[in-house]
Parts: sequence; C-alpha cells; structure tokens
Amino acid sequence: MPSPIPQPGLLGRRSECQTLDRYLEAVRGGESRALVVRGEPGVGKTALLQYAIDAASGMRVVRAVGVESEMELAFAGLQQLCAPMLDRLERLPGPQRDALATAFGLRTGDTPDRFFVGLAALGLLSEVAADQPLLCVVDDAQWLDRASAQALGLVARRLVAESVALVLAARVGGDERELAGLPELVVEGLRDADARALLGSVIRGPLDDRVRDRIVAETRGNPLALLELPRGLTPAELAGGFGLPHAPPLAGRYREAIARLTRTRARAWLARAHLAYGEWLRRQRRRLDAREELRIAHDMLAAMGAAGFAERASRELIATGETARKVTVETRSGLTAQETQIARLARDGLSNPEIGARLFISPRTVEYHLHKVFGKLDISSRTELGGALPGEPKAPSPV
Ligand SMILES: Nc1ncnc2c1ncn2[C@@H]1O[C@H](COP(=O)(O)OP(=O)(O)OP(=O)(O)O)[C@@H](O)[C@H]1O
Ligand SMILES: [Mg+2]
Repeated sequence: MPSPIPQPGLLGRRSECQTLDRYLEAVRGGESRALVVRGEPGVGKTALLQYAIDAASGMRVVRAVGVESEMELAFAGLQQLCAPMLDRLERLPGPQRDALATAFGLRTGDTPDRFFVGLAALGLLSEVAADQPLLCVVDDAQWLDRASAQALGLVARRLVAESVALVLAARVGGDERELAGLPELVVEGLRDADARALLGSVIRGPLDDRVRDRIVAETRGNPLALLELPRGLTPAELAGGFGLPHAPPLAGRYREAIARLTRTRARAWLARAHLAYGEWLRRQRRRLDAREELRIAHDMLAAMGAAGFAERASRELIATGETARKVTVETRSGLTAQETQIARLARDGLSNPEIGARLFISPRTVEYHLHKVFGKLDISSRTELGGALPGEPKAPSPV
C-alpha cells in the first residue's frame, strides 16, 4: 500500500515531512534552523518546500528562487528574499543598512564586503523574526549567484535563536561550496508502492504489470520521471502489446526554460538598480517616482530576457496602480517575456498551479496568460505548444 499522503498530491515522504515539521516547530518555539533539501532533478524538492510553506502556519514566509540566467548578478537571490522586508532596513545599524542598500542598488557606493552583507542580511531576518517566526525558502539554490549563496551560507551558520528557518533546495552535484556543511535532508526516489501509485495516477488505460515495474525501476522512483515517461509511450505499449518498450530519453525533463541575458553585465546591473530603486520608492509611497523607475527597469529586463526580474518589475508596477496592459512589452515572437516563460513551463508539462507556484502568481493568472498565448500562437491546446513556441533559448552567454 502507498504510504499515507501527508498533503494533497504528495505521495509518501512521511519522514521528510516529519523532519520539516520538527524544524518548523523548533523555530516557532524560538530556535533557528537551516536545512538544505538535496536531491536529483525532479525528485520532489520543490514539492517538499511547498509542504514546508503550507505547514508554516503562524509564520511569515519569504521566498527566493535561483535562476540560472541570473547567476552572474551579484546579490540577485538575496535581494529577492529580502525585498519584502526592506521596510525594516532603517532599523539596522548604519553600516549594515548601508551594506545591504548598496548591495541591492538602493544607494551608490563601493561594492560592499560580502561578509558584511551576510551579517546585515542576518540582522534583517532577525529584526523581522522578532515580530513573527520567519520561514525563508530558497528554491533552486544551485543557481544562486555566488554572492547570495555566500551571504545565505553565512546566515545559515550563524542562526541561533532568532526564530528563523532557512530552508534551501538544491540539486545534487551543485557546486555551491557556500552551503557546504549545513544540515541536509537528502531526498531519494519514491518507494515502490508510492511510485506505482503516482504512475497509476497519470495513466488512463490499462498498464501491463511488467511495463509498470520496468518504469518504476528505470525511473528509480523519481516523481518527475514517473510523470513524464509514460507520455512517450502509446496506450498499446503501456498495455504491454508490443513487449517491453525502450525507455525513451526522459525528453525535456531537465530542460530549463530560462531567458538569456544578452547584454553586458553593466546593463543588467543598471536594470536591477532601477528595479531596486523603484521598489524602494514604492515602499516610501512615492508612487509616481516609483512608476518611472519600474517602467525603465521592466523594459530593460524584458528586453534582455531576464523574465523573472521583468515579472517582478511588472508586479511592482501594477502595485503602483499601473495597469497590466501598459506594462507588457512584447518580444519578437509576439509574446511578452512573462507569456514566454509561462508557455515554456506549460510545454514542459507543468500544471497551472505548479507554474503559479514557480512564478509566484495565481493559477488563474497563469490561465489568463496561457489563454492569450494560445490566441497569439493560433493554437488551442497545451500539447501544441511544443511545435508553436519560438526557438529555445541558447546556451547561457556570459553577462
Ligand atoms: N511525493 C510526491 N508525490 C506526488 N508527486 C510528486 C511528489 N514529489 C514530487 N512530485 C511531482 O513531481 C514533479 C517534480 O517534483 P519537483 O518539481 O518538486 O522536483 P524538484 O526536485 O524540485 O525538481 P528540480 O530539481 O527540477 O527543481 C512535480 O510535478 C511534483 O508535483
Ligand atoms: Mg524544483
């Protein structure tokens, strides 16, 4: 029998969820904890982070996601994490405040010392957690920029009794020395019974026992592989009609739908500085000034393909009262940066809630954008996205 389901849609993972529960409980009780959730691609790290978020009742949650195309942008990840807390910046001692503000482009100055930025981030998290226990969730930490990884590593090692939980997910084999030595929760494939149950949930027709066992064995219980692999097989193959199928390459599995920065590093920095300044202005309630900065940031970021940051600028702009229509900038394909990002994730098989969780927007917003994508590409279903989307991003170019 499959293990009890600790949350809707999550099979097995009882002990992993218990570990996370214990961590959260300790943090609610005034302690601090850091944890790296480590595993191969598709094994279910993000799903476990989501479990932690759902289980974090009574806690404030802040998040960041490492983005491969933004790895060269120093402090990009840390800025994502800290952005919602910057209203507390003023409470930090002057040098820490200045270090963070400079790192995030809120003020000009020499590039601050990374050690100092780490301490300042720790100060900011502690300050916020003094009001309410804090859960910091960082997904795809293998793609954090070095500066952010260093700062977060330093934070993780110095957490003591601030009521802060720092939970990071990273792929195995990631080269983040900065996180070395932190407690790890190693995530393996699902147990056989759970793997079979997951497989059964995506196969409508009959499934031959031998084919099923073969898929479970070949995927080693990797949930993403279990969900993807049957797509490459016909109903007849699944029913065992043609003997045992060859496992098709787990196509597109680890494909990363990431826009590439094409301009110089200086330009990327400049765009981020506009974004950071705009965010700060909005929090100072200077909406008109904020709009101006955010518009520049959005257009620059969208043009250079930094979809994640462009989306953030767009959300900030909307929060200043700007309408969504004005903030979309279309690329040559006719899709906005955000539409392209959503369309690629949908093509890669993610559901609307999964896309929403990844991009921090609601499933309804995802649906709305997909609807527009279908219209622009003149298609009527997700399955047609593969053929209709304009060229894949090329290998990352240095920024
Ligand atoms: N325990 C589970 N039960 C059911 N489905 C699961 C489980 N774990 C993961 N999944 C599903 O498997 C897919 C891959 O999981 P997830 O995105 O969490 O993997 P990941 O380890 O974060 O991968 P990546 O390294 O690519 O980020 C998702 O569709 C997720 O919903
Ligand atoms: Mg993930």
